[in-house]
Amino acid sequence: MNHSKFSISRRSLLTGVATTAAISSFGVAAEKQASSFILPKASQSSAGSLAADEAFWAEIATYYDRTQGIVNLEHGYWGKMAKPVIEAYQRATKMVNDQNSFYARKRFPKDIRHATSRVAQALGAEEGEIVLTRNATESIHNLIRQYQGLSAGDAVLFADSDYPSFKTTMKWLEQDQGVKSVEVITPSLADQQQLLHAYVAAFDKHPEIKLMLLTHVSNQHGLVFPVVEVVKEAHNRGIDVICDCAQSWGLIDYKISDLEVNWAGFNLHKWIGSPVGVGALYMKKGSLNKIAPYPGESDPDNSRAYTRVHTATANFAAFLAVPTALDFHQAIGGENKQARLHYLRDLWFTEAQSMSHIEVLGGKDSMSSTGMSSFRLKGKNSIDDANKLQQRLENDFGIFTVIRKGLDSGACVRITPQVFTGVDEIQQLVDSLKKLA
Ligand SMILES: Cc1ncc(COP(=O)(O)O)c(C=O)c1O
Repeated sequence: MNHSKFSISRRSLLTGVATTAAISSFGVAAEKQASSFILPKASQSSAGSLAADEAFWAEIATYYDRTQGIVNLEHGYWGKMAKPVIEAYQRATKMVNDQNSFYARKRFPKDIRHATSRVAQALGAEEGEIVLTRNATESIHNLIRQYQGLSAGDAVLFADSDYPSFKTTMKWLEQDQGVKSVEVITPSLADQQQLLHAYVAAFDKHPEIKLMLLTHVSNQHGLVFPVVEVVKEAHNRGIDVICDCAQSWGLIDYKISDLEVNWAGFNLHKWIGSPVGVGALYMKKGSLNKIAPYPGESDPDNSRAYTRVHTATANFAAFLAVPTALDFHQAIGGENKQARLHYLRDLWFTEAQSMSHIEVLGGKDSMSSTGMSSFRLKGKNSIDDANKLQQRLENDFGIFTVIRKGLDSGACVRITPQVFTGVDEIQQLVDSLKKLA
């Protein structure tokens, strides 16, 4: 394996020593022990060919401690921190605890500004457009609850494939604002055209829609929604869009400008690999007038995104580890990570698709799919069926998964590998699927 020492200017494709970003954040004590890592140099020029380079990914896997006692194919809940990230987090936790309010009151404001600016850079957002939150839920709930554009008789739209808690909050607008909620049913195995068509049909049927929730990547089956196209159709009809990017950033590689949305919620604890407890709110410059400040806070010229959330005391150390998490993510390369996860998904998905007893759910083509997808036994779509299937995989075959039950078409079992998942583990899944007949 060809190793290359890190170059912060990113001369080579893959880089390794995360000393710089962490330094300003940790104070003197931490500065002396900043994280370093040396990642293998890419042996292939394209992300697509690197995706199948087992030696390379085996080397990446050494940066993670593995779940013991089971093959874990449920990495959609939150992402495991790589070793350099957990080390940075542990150091930050100790420093914050040692220095207590002396640190938090004097240095933390500067450090969180640094972490925020790193997130903005990584997402391609402008300064002031990103606010760090505790999770995607905090970001999205605030957007929904503080949205100002509704009057009685209007409608709001969400999809069956949206995140369940956000569907609940969109429905709650009925009682809070006197609006009607409309649920669009999206196909469970779909391409971009079919998904766009489902939204356009709902817009045409309900011209009273004023606000919609749009998920970039569904947590039910990893389906990628055609955000740009849907947003264009929505904006043409005067519909505002809140975009849920909780499951997309890091699972797929993009910049916020690629999505052409005004408002979005993210987390970094899934696919960016930060400690649990880091989210982000994006509000495009000039788009703040319809989202009120957090109750009681003021923003006289409507230009300060940070007045839309009030996080108060949170996990200081988790925010301090964000620069190292971004360093590690960028060292692997967002595009490489997306391609590898997609490759692992294709290994089982293609096999499962040819099994007559299995129904697969997710993207039909590569534009519409991610490393995450779902399946169920044909004709068995109740929650009870999915629970039994999940239990069988766990108890009989040693594979841990999770059931998802939000889709109109019924419940399913979700399969989510990570960058450290081996092809042998995917093969174990394929062998198990065959035996489910
Ligand atoms: C699509 C989607 N939206 C939102 C969330 C909520 O994210 P968080 O736990 O960071 O609030 C999740 C979490 O699983 C998700 O998958």
